[in-house]
Order: sequence, then C-alpha cells, then structure tokens
Amino acid sequence: MPPAAESHPPLRVALLGCGVVGTQVARLLTEQADDLASRVGARLELVGIAVRDTAAPRDAAIDRSLLTADAEGLVARADIVVEVMGGTEPARSLLLRAIDAGAAVVTANKALLAEDGPTLYKAADAAGVDIYFEAAVAGAIPIVRPVRESLAGDRVRRVLGIVNGTTNYVLDQMATTGMGLEEAVKEAQDLGYAEADPTADVEGYDAAAKAAILASLAFHTRVSLDDVAREGIMSVTADDVAWAAQTGHVIKLLAIAELRDGTSAGAPAGVSVRVHPALVPIAHPLANVRGSFNAVFVEAESAGELMFYGRGAGGAPTASAVLGDVVSAARHRVLGGKGPQESTYAELAILPASAAVTRYQVRLDVDDRPGVLAQVAHALAEHGVSIEAVRQPTAPGGADVAEPGVAELLITTHAAPESALSATVAAVAELEPVRTITSVLRVEGA
Ligand code: NDP
Ligand code: HSE
Repeated sequence: MPPAAESHPPLRVALLGCGVVGTQVARLLTEQADDLASRVGARLELVGIAVRDTAAPRDAAIDRSLLTADAEGLVARADIVVEVMGGTEPARSLLLRAIDAGAAVVTANKALLAEDGPTLYKAADAAGVDIYFEAAVAGAIPIVRPVRESLAGDRVRRVLGIVNGTTNYVLDQMATTGMGLEEAVKEAQDLGYAEADPTADVEGYDAAAKAAILASLAFHTRVSLDDVAREGIMSVTADDVAWAAQTGHVIKLLAIAELRDGTSAGAPAGVSVRVHPALVPIAHPLANVRGSFNAVFVEAESAGELMFYGRGAGGAPTASAVLGDVVSAARHRVLGGKGPQESTYAELAILPASAAVTRYQVRLDVDDRPGVLAQVAHALAEHGVSIEAVRQPTAPGGADVAEPGVAELLITTHAAPESALSATVAAVAELEPVRTITSVLRVEGA
C-alpha cells in the first residue's frame, strides 16, 4: 500500500508545452489532484508550464501565473518533466538536461523518439531515472507498456497498426461520405487530430515514427524513422476507395512491423518495418476501426492475436496516457525503483523495403481480345509471382467498366517479395495489349 500523500513531500511537475495535449494535462493535474495524490502517495505539484508565448490566450483551466518562457529554468526545478511541446529541438536538449539533473521524464513526442530515442534512453539509464512515452504511440491506447512489459516473455511476430487518427479519419470519411481528401484533412485539423503541419500525417511520417517505436519495442532492436519504408495516402483516389468496397475491402494506412524468419522464397531474415495504404478485408478487426480511432493488432507466438483499440489523438485522450506515465514515474519516486529500460539486445537486421513480403491487387485496362490474359499471366509467372484471382469486374455502381474493345482486369496475387511484385507490374505495363495500370494496392491482413 502506498504511503499517505502527506507522508511524502510533494513532487514537482514541470510541463513543457500548453497546446492541444498540454492544456489537458494541466487540467487533469489540477482537477484530479486529490485522487492522484492518493494513487501516488505524494501530491503532484505543477510548478510551471513552459510555452513560446506567455501572453497568448489560454484555456480557462490554465493558471496563467504558471506560464513561463524560461523552459530551461523550469526543468531545473522539477522532479518530473512532462514534454508535450513537440519537435526535435529544444525538446531533446530540455529532456537531456532534465535527465542529467535527476528528473524522471515523460514525453508524447514520437518524432523525437523515432529520430533519437536511443540517446535519451541511454542518458536515462546512466542517470538511473525513468523515461516513459506511452502517449507517443496511438494516443490513449495502452500499447507501449503491453508490448514492452506484458509481452516481454513472448515472441512478437507481427504488429499491424492503424496509428494515425488523421489518415484513418480521412479514409473513413472518403469511404462513407464521399468527401474529398482535402476537406477531410481540414476537418481532422479542426478536431485537433492532425499535426500542426498535416503533411506529417498524410505523407505517413507520423505513422512511420510510431512504427519505428513499436518495432524497436517488439523486436528488441534499434529501429529509427529512416529504417521505415513509407508511403502516405495522397495517391489514394475516390475510385480506389469505391473499388475496395466492391471487392470486400477497406483502405487503411497501416504501420506494419514484422519478423521474417527467412523461410519464404526470396525473402531474407530480419525485421520489416513499413507504412503504406493497404486493402484490408472487411472481416479483419482492423477494417472496423472507424473515424479517428486507432488500433494495434499484435500477433505473438504464445499469446496469439491481440487487439488494442481506442482514441489515438486529441487532447484529453492523449493526456490520459501522459498522466498514466506521470503516476508511474511518481510512484517510483515515492516507493523507490525504476521502470524497465529499452532493450536492443537482439540487434536484428532491418530489411530493405524491397524485401517486404506482401500481396498486390492490380487494376488494369487491356485490349479485349483472345490471348491477352495469357500474356499477362505469363509476365507474372516469369517473375515468380503467383496469381490468386483474376476478375473482369463490374464497376462500383454496376456500370460497365471499360469502353468497347477494352477490358478491365483485377488481379490479386499471392504473397511475394515486394521487389518481385513491383518488377512484375513494370513488366505488365510494358505489354503491348496493356493500355493502363489504373491502380496498384497492397493487400494486408488476409
Ligand atoms: P501543440 O502545437 O498544440 O502545442 C505545442 C505547445 O508547445 C504549445 O503550447 C507551444 O507554445 C509549446 N512550445 C512549442 N515549442 C516551444 C518552445 N520552443 N519553447 C516553449 N514552448 C514551446 O502540440 P500538441 O499538443 O498537439 O502536441 C504536443 C506533442 O504531443 C507532440 O509531440 C505531438 O506529436 C504529441 N502528440 C499529440 C497528439 C495530439 O492529438 N495532438 C497525440 C499524441 C501525441 P505556445 O502555446 O506558446 O505556442
Ligand atoms: N496527428 C496524429 C494523428 C496525432 O492523427 O494520429 C497523434 O499522434
């Protein structure tokens, strides 16, 4: 049982940032002060909030007397530093300064962790202090702690995640309302899901940062943003979304981290980490993740399949994860001890994008005459790519797809290395009866 709050001196909490997330962290620290004190065994005293502009309008919940532009000075007088300012600098320097001064740190900054997490982990290890970052991946969803701690005795094989609320919202709006991409992105920004520069969301950088963090934890291997093969959603068209529905799929931006044992033909052993839009069969649990919600689907050797679902963005949901970390760090201050360290002992090879194993669905217009299908099938066979299905479909809405003399084909492949699949598509595009490759999408989760 933790000691009574009064028996331990208050713990000083410094908050770096008072934006979408910081405002809610400050509010919860104030509104739930008594409960938090009872859970921790010491009162959590918010001693200051660092911002860029102390004169800017703030939420009514913010005690303006706590605002300061002197983040360095604030960090020097804290037991726990909460960083929700974002960006690489000055966030990294401030966290390192806090760690050197013996403070525990909590951050939601996936961009910083994906770029330079190991520097921070090493510094925290050397200083014997906690570093927690539950909010950095999938907002409110407890996923960092389950992967790092609950699954520490298992062997994770694969992590499939919808970890960016903005793009899931955008794709879902496109699928359900027919809204255009730009309009849906604007809505996501207004709702506080999108990063200040939504390029980070729509181009997949935000999801790639989270994929790097998840892959590092799952496979005990250092994975940084540069190791993640990345494609965003800008090339996904309304037509793709409609065709996906026609073929029993939805399009999702997936973050995928998987362990390859080198037994599949042409695919070497190592860790494959990638972010790209993919067709997900509607029967898969990830297909039902709607709006700005996030979900992470984990396949582990002994545990089997696990799914973590919830709000991946927004002020209050993210603040919930931040507060959970603050409570953990604070308990360690009161009771002694320290949370688990990062572990990179496995040092597995990071595979190039070309070695990822996936399936393709290719839509193409061809001349409608005898022997064309055989030519296309031959091109796939030559590259060692096996066809799962070929269809000459009816367009969404039931209309005939193609102009007279032209047939639209929908080819789904079996799993093959990305290098073979992309070479196949290039070869098919060169065939004389092929008019256009309309769309190429990967299929995952089947
Ligand atoms: P905001 O842009 O809303 O807020 C950033 C805050 O940090 C502002 O208060 C800003 O000050 C302050 N700040 C920025 N730079 C400095 C600086 N150099 N010195 C002092 N203060 C500074 O960001 P969010 O709250 O949306 O995000 C914060 C972090 O949380 C990011 O790392 C983000 O990736 C992460 N995150 C965000 C989620 C979300 O849903 N928004 C979800 C999960 C993680 P001022 O107010 O004066 O401009
Ligand atoms: N912009 C991010 C998203 C916020 O849309 O999911 C959470 O990191």
